[in-house]
Amino acid sequence: MILLQERATQTDQHRSRYRAFDSFTVKDGFQFLSSMILPLMLGIFTVVITFHQQKAAQEQRLEDRNESRIQREQELYIAVTQNEAQSKALKARYQDDVLVAYVKEISDLLKENNGSLTNNSIIAIIARAKTLNAVRQLDQSRNTQIIRFLYEARQLTVTQELSALDFSTAEHHDIDFRDLAINKTKLPKISLNGVFLKNATFIGIEMENVNFSSAEFDNTSFSSTYLFNVIFSYTRFINVNFSSAEFRSVNFSSAELNNGSFHLARLNPYSGSTI
Ligand SMILES: *[C@@H]1O[C@H](CO)[C@@H](O)[C@H](O)[C@H]1NC(C)=O
Ligand SMILES: *[C@@H]1O[C@H](CO)[C@@H](O)[C@H](O)[C@H]1NC(C)=O
Ligand SMILES: *[C@@H]1O[C@H](CO)[C@@H](O)[C@H](O)[C@H]1NC(C)=O
Ligand SMILES: *[C@@H]1O[C@H](CO)[C@@H](O)[C@H](O)[C@H]1NC(C)=O
Ligand SMILES: *[C@@H]1O[C@H](CO)[C@@H](O)[C@H](O)[C@H]1NC(C)=O
Ligand SMILES: *[C@@H]1O[C@H](CO)[C@@H](O)[C@H](O)[C@H]1NC(C)=O
Ligand SMILES: *[C@@H]1O[C@H](CO)[C@@H](O)[C@H](O)[C@H]1NC(C)=O
Ligand SMILES: *[C@@H]1O[C@H](CO)[C@@H](O)[C@H](O)[C@H]1NC(C)=O
Ligand SMILES: *[C@@H]1O[C@H](CO)[C@@H](O)[C@H](O)[C@H]1NC(C)=O
Ligand SMILES: *[C@@H]1O[C@H](CO)[C@@H](O)[C@H](O)[C@H]1NC(C)=O
Repeated sequence: MILLQERATQTDQHRSRYRAFDSFTVKDGFQFLSSMILPLMLGIFTVVITFHQQKAAQEQRLEDRNESRIQREQELYIAVTQNEAQSKALKARYQDDVLVAYVKEISDLLKENNGSLTNNSIIAIIARAKTLNAVRQLDQSRNTQIIRFLYEARQLTVTQELSALDFSTAEHHDIDFRDLAINKTKLPKISLNGVFLKNATFIGIEMENVNFSSAEFDNTSFSSTYLFNVIFSYTRFINVNFSSAEFRSVNFSSAELNNGSFHLARLNPYSGSTI
């Protein structure tokens, strides 16, 4: 009997414990879950924030890297342009030195030789070598100065007793002969035989007693020039413009002409020009 009662109370206790557990799982389960939502949300939030921060940090790093790369590129650019400017300045100074030395040497030769580089054949050879050597090293604007210097020293003019300095095989680009001409319009008695001129301009210049024999002209404009007693024998022309030019006694014998324009050019009927 006691044993039975004991068992019954045990079962009761057992049941009530079960019931207690049941009510715990249902009621407190919700409580537990709802208490878990906040930490869970916090956890997710933290994860999201961390992820976001990492991404932002990475972007910042990339940007910083970009910035330092851009800075490096700018520094390199500045260094390169400074270098270029420096080498340009060095080159300009070198060319100035060549020009100054050339003018001084030729001036000395002129003083020592009674104002002529051509009366003595040895002096003529030396002067020609010095000239070609300088011309080879100089740019177009300094070469124009050389031609001007020689022309004004009357070494590119033929006189009764003296010939002009032999300028043949010298090659010149982009020379505007209006810069050399007296009053921008007159270029008398210049002798440039055998010279090679590319992209030269003689527009509107009056030329008298000029010898261009055996010269070569590529892309050169003689438009509106006045040519009197001009020798173009054995001269080669490629892309030459003689439009509106006036010819009086111009000798084109044995000249070679490739693509020339003579639009509105005037040939004086009594000039004896030979074309
Ligand atoms: C880095 O610079 C390039 C252009 O140089 C740009 O296209 C890119 O968006 C930049 N990246 C960052 C993270 O700023
Ligand atoms: C110098 O040149 C002039 C002509 O320009 C000439 O009369 C004179 O004899 C020359 N003198 C010498 C030393 O060559
Ligand atoms: C040229 O040289 C000769 C001597 O070789 C001299 O008699 C003559 O005067 C010179 N001419 C000029 C213009 O210097
Ligand atoms: C030709 O020469 C002119 C000056 O006479 C210059 O302005 C031009 O740039 C030159 N053209 C070429 C292709 O060299
Ligand atoms: C150059 O022009 C000036 C004035 O325009 C004139 O007095 C002078 O004679 C001219 N020179 C030549 C060589 O034509
Ligand atoms: C030819 O000369 C003209 C005028 O000087 C210039 O504008 C042009 O660029 C030159 N062309 C070539 C191929 O040199
Ligand atoms: C023109 O130059 C050529 C080549 O140097 C020469 O043979 C010729 O005698 C010169 N003509 C004149 C008129 O000076
Ligand atoms: C002929 O020469 C002119 C300049 O004088 C140039 O504009 C033209 O392109 C040239 N034509 C050919 C086919 O070379
Ligand atoms: C020749 O030069 C004139 C004047 O500069 C210009 O009007 C003409 O178009 C040129 N002709 C050619 C074929 O280049
Ligand atoms: C033109 O030049 C050639 C070669 O220099 C010469 O033989 C000829 O006599 C000259 N013609 C005239 C009309 O001067």
